[in-house]
Amino acid sequence: MKKIVYLVGILLFTVACGDTKEVIISQVEAERASTIFPGTTTEMLLEGQKLYNVHCMKCHQFSPTKFKVHTWEKYMPEMGKLANIDSKTQETILKYVATFSKK
Ligand code: HEC
Repeated sequence: MKKIVYLVGILLFTVACGDTKEVIISQVEAERASTIFPGTTTEMLLEGQKLYNVHCMKCHQFSPTKFKVHTWEKYMPEMGKLANIDSKTQETILKYVATFSKK
């Protein structure tokens, strides 16, 4: 019985950690983003993350850190069409992925 409790514990731990693969957004990132996109707030990045997860992650699960800024920029117009989103939404998503992109 003890073993089962232990296994469930490991399972929950794994699931919880799986979620943390998602990037954590804080004021620090918002300030970093502001140097590229002036006026970017934590809320905007959170919105971008939400939109990215809804519109882009349904087809592939790339972390923003997987590609460099220019790759995200290059693919955005084509992917925006695939995701059927307007240019404003693309811009918000781009702010998010660019901020956390591969250096
Ligand atoms: C309908 C499914 C679909 C949606 C929605 C979608 N993509 Fe894609 N995406 C693909 C496919 C399929 C590929 C691989 C084909 C290719 O490389 O051109 C791809 C490739 C990419 C790549 C390049 C990957 C590489 O290995 O070079 C990037 C970057 C990307 N998508 C970003 C996005 C972003 C950002 C969004 C949301 C705005 C998005 N995608 C939405 C299907 C989708």
